[in-house]
Amino acid sequence: MTFQHPSFGTVTDDRVIIFDTTLRDGEQSPGFSMNLDEKLRMARALAELGVDVIEAGFPVASGGDFESVESIATHIKGAVICALARSGGVRDIEAAGEALKKAERGRIHNFISTSPLHMKYKLRMEPETVLEIIASGNKLARQFTDDVEWSAEDGCRTEPDFLCRAVEVAIKNGATTINIPDTVGFSVPEEIEAIFAMLRERVPGADQVIFSAHNHNDLGLGVANTLAALQGGARQVECTINGIGERAGNAALEEIVMALRTRKDRFGLTTGIATERLLGVSRLLAGITGFDVQPNKAIVGRNAFAHESGIHQDGVLKHAATYEIMTPESVGWTSSSMVLGKHSGRAAFRDKLKAMGYADLSEEAFLDAFRRFKDLADQKKVVFEDDIRALIDEGGRVNERIQLIDLSVQAGTVHPSKIVLTLSIDGQTKTVETTGNGPVDAVFKAIGLACPHQATLGLFSVANVTQGTDAQALTTVRLEENGRLVDGQGADVDTVVSAARAYLHALNKLLVKRQRKAPEELAS
Ligand code: KIV
Ligand code: ZN
Repeated sequence: MTFQHPSFGTVTDDRVIIFDTTLRDGEQSPGFSMNLDEKLRMARALAELGVDVIEAGFPVASGGDFESVESIATHIKGAVICALARSGGVRDIEAAGEALKKAERGRIHNFISTSPLHMKYKLRMEPETVLEIIASGNKLARQFTDDVEWSAEDGCRTEPDFLCRAVEVAIKNGATTINIPDTVGFSVPEEIEAIFAMLRERVPGADQVIFSAHNHNDLGLGVANTLAALQGGARQVECTINGIGERAGNAALEEIVMALRTRKDRFGLTTGIATERLLGVSRLLAGITGFDVQPNKAIVGRNAFAHESGIHQDGVLKHAATYEIMTPESVGWTSSSMVLGKHSGRAAFRDKLKAMGYADLSEEAFLDAFRRFKDLADQKKVVFEDDIRALIDEGGRVNERIQLIDLSVQAGTVHPSKIVLTLSIDGQTKTVETTGNGPVDAVFKAIGLACPHQATLGLFSVANVTQGTDAQALTTVRLEENGRLVDGQGADVDTVVSAARAYLHALNKLLVKRQRKAPEELAS
């Protein structure tokens, strides 16, 4: 069976459209906000990964959100760029249309709740009013683009008859993709499969649209529910890198894609994802947000292909398929984790970056990374892949408003620790000097003196990037200000420098977040 889609042309029934919402639903989760530069890097990496649709943001939310959607639409080619809007918000839809003007292919994604609970308590609207809004929202969106998606928020807890009516209204008024989210992660796979099968069977015009699944992970069922939706006839899946997203997150892109590829015998479905780039994109996101995945995370966790037990190791050596259902290389793991040393040249460094999924660095970023790699190689005998990732991730921060210029520390058992810190703040150099209970306390106080703020420290943790006494320290800092939560990460062979970098990373994110509207201003 085939079908004509305004953005994808002829779509065959075995092709799954990968809709990535890392930059919208993912970015909505506490601590995961990104600045414009970081969003552009992520969007570029997603396009190279082969994602079909990139949901770039919610333009009406703030000037910053509008700017990032517009910028992604202008610069990122290859994928459809999508902007979110409330079905009832005329200004939302106009802002989405405006932000997408320069996109090669742009999609407006409008949504409104359809469950009895949401209509009664959140929207305080009668079902008939909701149907009117679905009609007007989709009609208006079609004035800006032929590619319109409509979502029934809390769709999986919606009465089946009403859901059928709502979907019919959306299709009649121009929606080309129909998304049925499990907004609160409540459903189980059999229910999800049945919802899609029912809609496809009962709704007039269902054969002219693509059905889409969007599953949250509150019960850990996000990926299982997404696979069930595909079995029910959905052909678009909404997902995020590393499964980030509201609360417990969204279904993880890398897990869905590898389940479809590894179990093609069962699903018979394909995607356009270049799977060997999965690890690189996962690491890029972890570096930008400051949130690493847990070691046992499927596909991209550092233990995902590590065989600890002697019996397993023996089996893998005899025949990898005994304990490996996919090859590590197929998702981007390279066989040697030890890489370069101080004698390694530019060509070797460039090759290594490519193999690690960083093929898209500009020449300027590459040269900057190479210079910092050389500095690091002078301090450490061997530089591992994880060292290089930490280094590249920090390199993306060159446009941040507050930059670390210099730091010197005096510490010991007798006197309080003393810090002299020099920062560049919006291009102005500022030096402060202070003492504290230990060098980390002193450095955080010094940052507070240089850039006064009300944020409180919610988390401070240090891990080593690799093994050995010369390993880089990887510090995570969480700051909280008026309900806004941000995490920052910093890496350096000096633990105090790494802590300073992490604190500044978080503070820079807070500056970005302050420009956004408060959640209550955005309530539908
Ligand atoms: O979870 C949800 O319902 C959403 C919609 C806006 C699609 O994110
Ligand atoms: Zn969601």
